[in-house]
Amino acid sequence: MPATPVLSQLPSYEVIKTIAQSLKAVSVVRMLEQEPNRAAEFTLTAAGLQLDYSKHLLDVQARQALLQLAEEAKLPAAIAGLLAGEELNNTEQRPALHTLLRASSGGSLGSKFDEVVAARASMRQWADQLNAGELRGFSGSVITDVVNIGIGGSDLGPRLVTEALRPFHGSVACHYVANVDPADLQNTLLSLQAETTLFILCSKSFRTEETLTNSLVAREWMKQSGATDADLNKHFVAITSNLQAAADFGIPEENCLPLWDWVGGRYSVWSAIGLSCAIAIGWENFELFLAGAAAMDEHFQSAPLAENMPVMMSLLEVWYVNFFGANNHVVLPYDHSLQKLPDFLQQLTMESNGKRVNKSGELLDYHTGPVLWGSAGTMGQHSFHQLLHQGTQQCPADFILPLTTHTGMTEQHRRLVANCIAQSRTMTVGRSIDEAKSSLLERGMDEASAGELAPHLSMPGNRPNSVITMASLAPQTLGALLALYEHRTFCSAVLWGINPFDQWGVELGKEIGVQVLGLMAGESSSGSMDTATERLIGEWLAEQ
Ligand code: F6P
Repeated sequence: MPATPVLSQLPSYEVIKTIAQSLKAVSVVRMLEQEPNRAAEFTLTAAGLQLDYSKHLLDVQARQALLQLAEEAKLPAAIAGLLAGEELNNTEQRPALHTLLRASSGGSLGSKFDEVVAARASMRQWADQLNAGELRGFSGSVITDVVNIGIGGSDLGPRLVTEALRPFHGSVACHYVANVDPADLQNTLLSLQAETTLFILCSKSFRTEETLTNSLVAREWMKQSGATDADLNKHFVAITSNLQAAADFGIPEENCLPLWDWVGGRYSVWSAIGLSCAIAIGWENFELFLAGAAAMDEHFQSAPLAENMPVMMSLLEVWYVNFFGANNHVVLPYDHSLQKLPDFLQQLTMESNGKRVNKSGELLDYHTGPVLWGSAGTMGQHSFHQLLHQGTQQCPADFILPLTTHTGMTEQHRRLVANCIAQSRTMTVGRSIDEAKSSLLERGMDEASAGELAPHLSMPGNRPNSVITMASLAPQTLGALLALYEHRTFCSAVLWGINPFDQWGVELGKEIGVQVLGLMAGESSSGSMDTATERLIGEWLAEQ
């Protein structure tokens, strides 16, 4: 394996540190005043999305230096390698070919692409038949509800797409169960009839505790509701790369849709893992969703670094994490139907880039992926935006704003848009102590009281934020948006020298979970557990 570039040893690293230091004292408002074309010049468009990054602590020199850093980290070659199917996931010896799942041709990856095309045909058949009311359950009634049982990448993507594209829904209702907490499945089943319900068991590995546990309970529920063993194939479908385990569970081959080891869970919504959302929005819309992502892939592949939207967003991420000490990133969709976007992006970015050694296994001397968080619409303004505006931590923000609404309620939507634009501006301009004091005096407050209160009202501004706009939230634009963040995540991993496609950090917890379960069932710990853990297990046992 070629040596991994180390960010802190790249020639531009120290230069950028100095530039960042000088920009800490610069006002973004001043830059916007002094550079009349800044808003236009710091805006990129791609695949139906527009990124305005003019309100960042960034000038032309800093941007140039970051682009140079990307060249030094060999980002262009890495992008080409990703799209060509090179074995970039070096700890698991695999390529990461999620882009092939939305491609319209396979190029040199022909045989893999043929499998993708066959899987799409199978998905289409299930989606079309369900939407046409052609599939019937054990009693002969038409299937009306689909329950996706999966977790992580086998849940978050399909759940997000289904929720985000509600205006495109057909006649089948899709539900999602992920948590091993029995309340999740139980609550979902409350509103369902077994005879009209189809379960999609969504698990790449078909070994995931939560999914298998919920699937067994769902099967039992189906039987208790009157289905015989022979009826079960009318009610269970599996999406997996582990066909044997699905067969052992009792899913016949014709009810299994494939997945491949070259698709990471958090990058899998484009595959058969997305079957539930393809059913919800119908096959034609799912194809548009794929096409939107493919348009972003095309941009990612062909746009020069300086005009490349995922690259620029990644450079901004590295800029704040490594040169300004930011430890988090907030995503603020101003569209209620994108409520689940932060959850999806948490897995995408934090499972990918929450790493502390580089691709060669060497401990890093700089930070990698930040905490990602956020919530939709104006609700956050009445809770955590206080910290965005006046807190001591820096929280670089992405505002995401569809410019029209599917609701038909344009006046209410106008208010939503106004709030988004206002919050972005407020983070940028802030309010000085003098301005705060003047406004208090104007409102009739006396000089002394205004002087005392003004520091509490002042806000530093200069809080970096991007605004991503789109004409409307539709299958294509949603596809492009998710692909944008996938590629941003990949670029940041390349700059940090880490592998974004493995997730070894989740494994130890699973192993210890099995040990704990054993102790809860009465196995002896023989001193293998720490005393705090033993005490907690004891507390649980005492309540049983
Ligand atoms: O444990 C983490 C993880 O492997 C994720 O990467 C994945 O998306 C999720 O679990 C579900 O895995 P599976 O699809 O194999 O059930």
